[in-house]
Amino acid sequence: MKMFPQDVTQTPGEYAMFMVLGVHDGSGVFEKVKNLCGGLAAIVRSMRNRFPDLEISCVMGFGSDAWGKLFPEQPRPKELAVFQEIRGDKHTAVSTPGDLFFHIRAKRMDACYEVAAMISDALNGATSHIDEVHGFRYLDSRAIIGFVDGTENPENDDRRAFAVIENEDAYFTGGSYAFVQKYLHDMQAWNALSTEEQEQAIGRRKYNDLELGDGVKPKNAHNAVTNIADADGNELKIVRANMAFANPSKGEFGTYFIGYAATFSTTRKMLENMFIGEPAGNTDRLLDFSTAVTGTLFFVPASDLLEELGE
Ligand code: HEM
Repeated sequence: MKMFPQDVTQTPGEYAMFMVLGVHDGSGVFEKVKNLCGGLAAIVRSMRNRFPDLEISCVMGFGSDAWGKLFPEQPRPKELAVFQEIRGDKHTAVSTPGDLFFHIRAKRMDACYEVAAMISDALNGATSHIDEVHGFRYLDSRAIIGFVDGTENPENDDRRAFAVIENEDAYFTGGSYAFVQKYLHDMQAWNALSTEEQEQAIGRRKYNDLELGDGVKPKNAHNAVTNIADADGNELKIVRANMAFANPSKGEFGTYFIGYAATFSTTRKMLENMFIGEPAGNTDRLLDFSTAVTGTLFFVPASDLLEELGE
């Protein structure tokens, strides 16, 4: 049984690079990917040794098709499938392709780049670019829309309990489901709202991040629709590590959403509440100003399984 998760419970960090790649078919290709599975931990270990203060980490994940192709001898994680798009009357959570996923975090962008460069070198000729986003911690951990992001994330031991597979799928203990979406914000429309209207969309105060009281918080506030519980009333959470990104001269302002979960069904339920609404029609007000342009599910094996996959 594999025990040691990759760095899925870390805080979002100061800088992050998100890379989504496609894997080519052809001879020698799978060997390159597998060599990296076996060697990634050593790359990160070396970087941490060289720069002990930079909190460097790298998570590697696999899309559903790639998992089957690369590791036909392996069982399939219970919830690993191509993300099925969620189409509501007003908003759609699109599904976009991705074979390999890397989430690189560090206190300095050059350290993220260094890890990314070594990964790209190891995969040279075996993969193609699908998406790459360079995120930064914005002010006091705010999303680019100006609100503090991450406050209600689980803490301490709860982080592992919500992000890492335990008994749900014995063979894959220590694994996690990473779901990512690149969102673009209509900042003109968002900034045309009053601060009070923005606060009603998020469900928290903008300046001091205090949660709006039940009597004040609208049912379609972002933190109302994503607040979910199981049949016994226990809150269900995921570990989010969103990052802001922007290319201001292009008019591009975004949030790279990433949620790690022990069960993808938890993330999916939140998405359904946002995009379809519960009841249907009660869609997330934040989506009136935010468009998901990607959406991909990856499986993140435990670090010891990842190393074994390289053998
Ligand atoms: C446009 C992209 C998004 C932005 C800018 C955003 C931003 C925020 C902000 C500012 C908060 C309040 C502070 C906090 O508790 O973290 C929040 C809460 C939350 N968000 Fe998001 N979010 C986005 C997408 C998503 C998605 C796609 C999901 C789930 C699939 C999600 C799940 C949650 C959850 C579970 C909470 C905490 C709710 C609670 O208070 O119980 N978010 N988000």
